[in-house]
Amino acid sequence: MSVQTVDHFFNPSSKDFIHDPVPTLEKLCNEYPISRFDAWQAWLVTGHANIIKCLLDTRLSTDFNLWEYAPPKKPIEEMDAFEKLMNNNLFFLDRKNHLRLRKLALPAFSPRIMEQMKERFSVLVKERFDEIGTPDSFNFAAEIAEIVPTQAIASLVGIPRDKFPIFDSLAYGVVRGINPMLTPDERKDAIKGVPEGLDLLNELIDERRADPGNDFLSTLILAEDQGSKLSNLEMCALVGAVLGAGSDTAVDLHSYLIKNLLQHPEQLDLLKADPGLVQGAISETLRYESSGKTGLARYASEDLDINGHEIKKGQMVQLITSTAGMDSSIYEEPRKFDIQRDHDKSISFGQGPHYCIGVTLVRSQTEVMLKELFKRFPNLSLGNETVYDYNHHNARRMDVMMVNTNLT
Ligand code: HEM
Repeated sequence: MSVQTVDHFFNPSSKDFIHDPVPTLEKLCNEYPISRFDAWQAWLVTGHANIIKCLLDTRLSTDFNLWEYAPPKKPIEEMDAFEKLMNNNLFFLDRKNHLRLRKLALPAFSPRIMEQMKERFSVLVKERFDEIGTPDSFNFAAEIAEIVPTQAIASLVGIPRDKFPIFDSLAYGVVRGINPMLTPDERKDAIKGVPEGLDLLNELIDERRADPGNDFLSTLILAEDQGSKLSNLEMCALVGAVLGAGSDTAVDLHSYLIKNLLQHPEQLDLLKADPGLVQGAISETLRYESSGKTGLARYASEDLDINGHEIKKGQMVQLITSTAGMDSSIYEEPRKFDIQRDHDKSISFGQGPHYCIGVTLVRSQTEVMLKELFKRFPNLSLGNETVYDYNHHNARRMDVMMVNTNLT
């Protein structure tokens, strides 16, 4: 079967795509179920059914080391703190180690811990809005979306309030340090806060080890599976994975949720009349306005066939999950923002062995933020200024999204 390439129209770093990715995603979904994207030296897979098939195919692994162009793995003794952290990251482990780590980590995301967190988010979010006060307008992207998700994870991990800045630097290092486009100096600069952040985490783990409670870290410390327990490094790496997976994604969810609700006042009215629709609004935002520039990366552990195309062992396959939300065989009128839609088939949080571990946490923190926002500013409207960070490595990130409070 002949191979189609998409380099002639697909450029997720371009301003056109960042401003409005929909025409490109629709074209990918409708005309290019599987194609080559030479710029990434990868196969692209699009459409709901094809992506699910790949997510469930055990021959497609998240283990980056299987990639044909992966740099040779360094011996542990030569790795810096950041590399050691990544080496133990849930996303990059082989299947056996991933299963073990995930099983040990899951109790720390139990409904009991998530319930504790809801109360803590509530306090944090109120404090944040108190700091913002009652201005005529403010930058929602920088003053809420950028701050609340990392604070939520800091609070999950049990970081004391006065140590949040150290944790912020760790988060910055984990999220930005992974960008393959950085020069060695830029990378060094991005990850400079990692060692201090890890010292802080290790201190906390040791404190909890000596006197465990019923919090997130204590639950990780006490978790045991067939005699196996998590080491300090594995716990730090788990926190790293949580930061990598759960801060940036949630930042964009916060911004795009508010943008879409304010751009669709009839949907906002529905939500105000029935606050129970909030989870539908979150799912619909993730479907309608996916913020990612890339997909979910997989690496072939052996030769395989996808829809008649031969994928060679070691090749990268990018699953463009944002196209699943555009798939008209699953969603009627995909271009309609409808918070009452059925999301049973959603794959915004993945599917299969790597299904998002933080889904309850992010849903809960976003709900708390949304309720407080409209309680304080019931007549909120979108301002005139939106500024994108065109250099963000994997997200259609807004640095500025002004909102007017219309308090008087
Ligand atoms: C809007 C926010 C979020 C979205 C859209 C999202 C989406 C996803 C997706 C699609 C995956 C699967 C990745 C794959 O198959 O390669 C995933 C995995 C993961 N997510 Fe989330 N996520 C979000 C927030 C969070 C939060 C808040 C946390 C933690 C507090 C989190 C922690 C994780 C972890 C640790 C994994 C890896 C699980 C594994 O490999 O077993 N995510 N997420």
